[in-house]
Amino acid sequence: MIKTTVQEAINQQIVREMFSSNLYLSMSAYFHSINLPGFANWMHVQAQEETTHAIKFFDYLLARGGIVTLGVIDAPELSWESPLAAFEAAYEHEQKVTSWINEIADLAFAEKDHPTNVLIQWFINEQVEEESNASDIVARMRLAGHDRSSMFFLDNELKQRKFVPPATGATT
Ligand code: FEO
Repeated sequence: MIKTTVQEAINQQIVREMFSSNLYLSMSAYFHSINLPGFANWMHVQAQEETTHAIKFFDYLLARGGIVTLGVIDAPELSWESPLAAFEAAYEHEQKVTSWINEIADLAFAEKDHPTNVLIQWFINEQVEEESNASDIVARMRLAGHDRSSMFFLDNELKQRKFVPPATGATT
């Protein structure tokens, strides 16, 4: 049986992952509204990934005999002052998610909850990729600056991103 402290942390993280999904959907709509369909696609795929993160925690909690109590998901922002500002906000958000994941790792360690420790290793690795993906795009946007052809090129590249459903196991 999972400890209440860990159960609460995972329930909170499910809501945060769903917030992340909504945030990226909102960013996708924003990019769509300013005629950057590739950026919009990238964010759309990212939103789907975030949902799978929430489901992964959800499935895990049930597999451990825990109780799922879903809280309120805050509304995301609706627009940003520039495409760069939106991606900078995404990168900042991922850094925040990493700190939440690390807090769960610390808690699992303190509670000697080895299964949660195994699960959270997956998320720790995932966050390395999440931060790297967002920061790479921020760096390329800064390089592009106001050069429309560079932004057009980047937009075309981001159009290629496709959602790949992850393995379904709670700890895979
Ligand atoms: Fe689920 Fe982007 O972290």
